[in-house]
Amino acid sequence: MLKPIIIANWKLNGNKVLVNKFIKKINNDYEKYFKKSTVIISPPMIYIEYMKKFMKNLKLSFAAQNVDYNYQGAFTGEISTYMIQEIGAKYIILGHSERRKHHFENNSLIAKKFYCTKINNLIPILCIGETENEKKSGLTENILTKQIDKIFLICGKNAFHNTLIAYEPIWAIGTGNNASPILINRTLKFIKNYIIFKSENTDIKFYMQYGGSVSTENIKDIICQKNVDGVLIGSGSLNYKNFLEMIKISSKN
Ligand code: 13P
Repeated sequence: MLKPIIIANWKLNGNKVLVNKFIKKINNDYEKYFKKSTVIISPPMIYIEYMKKFMKNLKLSFAAQNVDYNYQGAFTGEISTYMIQEIGAKYIILGHSERRKHHFENNSLIAKKFYCTKINNLIPILCIGETENEKKSGLTENILTKQIDKIFLICGKNAFHNTLIAYEPIWAIGTGNNASPILINRTLKFIKNYIIFKSENTDIKFYMQYGGSVSTENIKDIICQKNVDGVLIGSGSLNYKNFLEMIKISSKN
């Protein structure tokens, strides 16, 4: 059976003190607890190389939280896929609702980033999801398919092969109000079927995540859903004890 995929998205949080704490604790706990899951840590980009260096013998992966679709040149403040590769990250989180909202990223821009992530052999973790109003208006599936369609349009039929897709309803992020396990399972099933249909390939391989107020209280019921391959944890991943507890719970399924 597939190991649960547990992703820690630190967002714009943490500092050297937290990074050092995680390094020390993970080095200590890895053998006993981490091996039963696929753990991906996504700290702010500048800490990735440092964390990797001090946890070098562990099979732990890292994700960048953003990338530019340009490879080099006069793009002040940006970071390319080459640079992300060079520091040893394997994944890039794309399309997070916080980047859509605060950094005005639209579906076209996200699709361009997705394209260059894939052709440079990094793995996109694509976040999609609807707002509370869209949910209330019955637009969830419409919004999700629009977010997916742009990727197909720019990246072609095989776009989603070997990628991760995270259903992150905006109303559930940072609110303590997670989507119910039944809703998560149903929505992930819809997304999965839609991607298979658009790919015209039933053998296509991709992995489905849920994100939005995942906690030690609800992870057990979420992770055991048929269509859930793993979770994307925001604030709950910043507290090491909490994070470890979630890894322990999910590996028992
Ligand atoms: P929270 O777990 O803080 O709700 O954040 C979820 C998220 O945005 C993960 O990418």
